[in-house]
Amino acid sequence: MPYPSLPEALSQQDIDTDLQTVVLQLADTSIAISQALAKGALAGVLGAAGAENVQGEDQKKLDVIANDLIKAALAKLPAVRGLASEEEESVVACNTDGRYLVTFDPLDGSSNIDINSMVGTIFSVLESSGSGEVTEAEFLQPGRAQKAAGYVLYGPSVMLVLSTGKGVTMFTLDPDSGSYLLTAGNVAIPSDTNEFSVNMSNQRHWASGMQRYIGELMAGKDGPRGKNYNMRWVAAMVADVHRILCRGGLFTYPWDDRKPEQAGKLRLMYEANPMGFLVEQAGGEVWTPEGKILDIQPDHIHQRVPVILGAAEEVTTCVSYHQE
Ligand code: F6P
Ligand code: MN
Repeated sequence: MPYPSLPEALSQQDIDTDLQTVVLQLADTSIAISQALAKGALAGVLGAAGAENVQGEDQKKLDVIANDLIKAALAKLPAVRGLASEEEESVVACNTDGRYLVTFDPLDGSSNIDINSMVGTIFSVLESSGSGEVTEAEFLQPGRAQKAAGYVLYGPSVMLVLSTGKGVTMFTLDPDSGSYLLTAGNVAIPSDTNEFSVNMSNQRHWASGMQRYIGELMAGKDGPRGKNYNMRWVAAMVADVHRILCRGGLFTYPWDDRKPEQAGKLRLMYEANPMGFLVEQAGGEVWTPEGKILDIQPDHIHQRVPVILGAAEEVTTCVSYHQE
């Protein structure tokens, strides 16, 4: 049986053709990004662009290249009304009559570029009934309102992982034909976990509930959990969440007392929400210590949020320790 192509799989998902076009355009652009990544040093695209983005982080040349490719591709589509990107200070108007808004992190985990390690693109599609000039307020919808969400993982193979609200499907880019082919459907996060994912170097800055939860996992067989846990941290959310979708576990980027007002490192609208949509669609849970991430009413497009996601029981236990 041949693997179904992305357009074939999308046509089975009961979504309108405008939304299909948006997803297909993002998929096509990710192939161009993967080609720029594959050339690496040969194309002179490694290293810093010499500027900071709106978040105060160093922009890499490939952050800028990926952002410009996605922006140009989406702006061409009549269905896209506006976009918001990690690399753009304000929302960008596209086509006033379009129905869809797209938020994206063009190159997630970009500190991995210079060490030739995994990076990704994350995207979220929202609907808007707005007319006239596009405003930031139209974007400020809870994650639960997303019409589609997904990511592309640029790894040993390039994979597109997608949900339009009916489960999670995974596509692998066939380098021979240049098409994404469906290689896994009905993705479900295993409930049995013995792996966690967190940047342990920040441990002393976490809230006491997180200290206790991770401390119990670290205590292994001799601790209250009675089994040994493994730890993995790729430092690219796409790659760490991809592992959770494939073989389970818990991922967290916790609240940190160094910047209490900032709440967390990850961005709600183009990191936590789209990844959260996928994880919930795969049967997992996605929380901050206060509640479910997909229910948060955003205040602004670059808002940050602490993230605890993955296997349902683990997330529930971790969150419960924060509430004691
Ligand atoms: O986009 C932010 C990000 O790069 C995530 O992809 C990743 O999970 C995290 O930051 C890595 O953070 P740290 O540098 O603390 O390991
Ligand atoms: Mn990112």
